[in-house]
Amino acid sequence: MRIAVAGGTGVVGRHAVGAAERAGHDVVVLARSRGVDVLTGEGLAAALSGVDAVIDAANSGTTLSARKATRFFETATRNLLAAETTAGVGHHVSLSIVGIDDIDASYYAGKHAQERAVAAGSVPYSIARAGQFHEFAGQLLSGMGGPVAVLPKVLMRPVAAREVGEHLVRVVEGGPVGRARDLVGPRDEVLVDVARRQLAFDGIRRPVLEVRLPGTYGRGLASGALRGGADAVHGRITFDEWLRSEDHGRV
Ligand SMILES: NC(=O)c1ccc[n+]([C@@H]2O[C@H](COP(=O)([O-])OP(=O)(O)OC[C@H]3O[C@@H](n4cnc5c(N)ncnc54)[C@H](OP(=O)(O)O)[C@@H]3O)[C@@H](O)[C@H]2O)c1
Repeated sequence: MRIAVAGGTGVVGRHAVGAAERAGHDVVVLARSRGVDVLTGEGLAAALSGVDAVIDAANSGTTLSARKATRFFETATRNLLAAETTAGVGHHVSLSIVGIDDIDASYYAGKHAQERAVAAGSVPYSIARAGQFHEFAGQLLSGMGGPVAVLPKVLMRPVAAREVGEHLVRVVEGGPVGRARDLVGPRDEVLVDVARRQLAFDGIRRPVLEVRLPGTYGRGLASGALRGGADAVHGRITFDEWLRSEDHGRV
């Protein structure tokens, strides 16, 4: 199969690319650094020529602005689906986040908008939701300056981005299903705990404080909803195993 991966240079996208290549697929990466911009549409039509399926793992960054996240995910999805229709792509796989149903706010407002746009489009689709990545704490820590890190209270069940990439390829291969089964990690965790373990493992002395964010978003993060339901598929790699793996070193 010829598979295009939007965001194929990102934390999870690179694992989807690797998993697809190992499975013998022909892979095209859609990223600005590869001359394809899903927001402006630059390079998209040419990149999708002959493509059978698209995995969308592009990201707006870690913005907490609902307006910015919504604009990114709506525009990217609209442009991707239009180009896929022209190219005759038969399956669009969109990566979303487990447990966000009642958290239509902040960054998650963008993910809701993305899911709605995919479901309303004319390209057969699968929406694959995953838990926070093991890489998530590091993404937040590296994007935050200052001697002290301040992180929101987040109850989560994190999963290795490597396993999410493999899951996305299985979803692509299975054909369009609408909502695919959720994927979460093997153990319940709390964001500040994994952040502290990661800093200690890396030999970095940096205090980490936990705050409860206000409003719908903050309540949702702290509620446990992001840990997913009983019917989710579970990854095998624990956070501490991931810390000791070469995947941690690469982020
Ligand atoms: N992080 C988590 O814990 C988590 C959990 C569940 C689901 N997700 C979802 O997983 C997806 C990927 O997240 P991530 O953390 O792996 O992202 P990431 O590491 O920030 O990577 C973002 C990717 O998107 C590409 N990109 C950004 N703007 C683009 C544009 N205008 N045109 C084309 N490509 C663009 C980037 O490449 P260039 O910079 O070269 O363009 C990069 O490949 C997101 O949809 C996110 O909501 C994340």
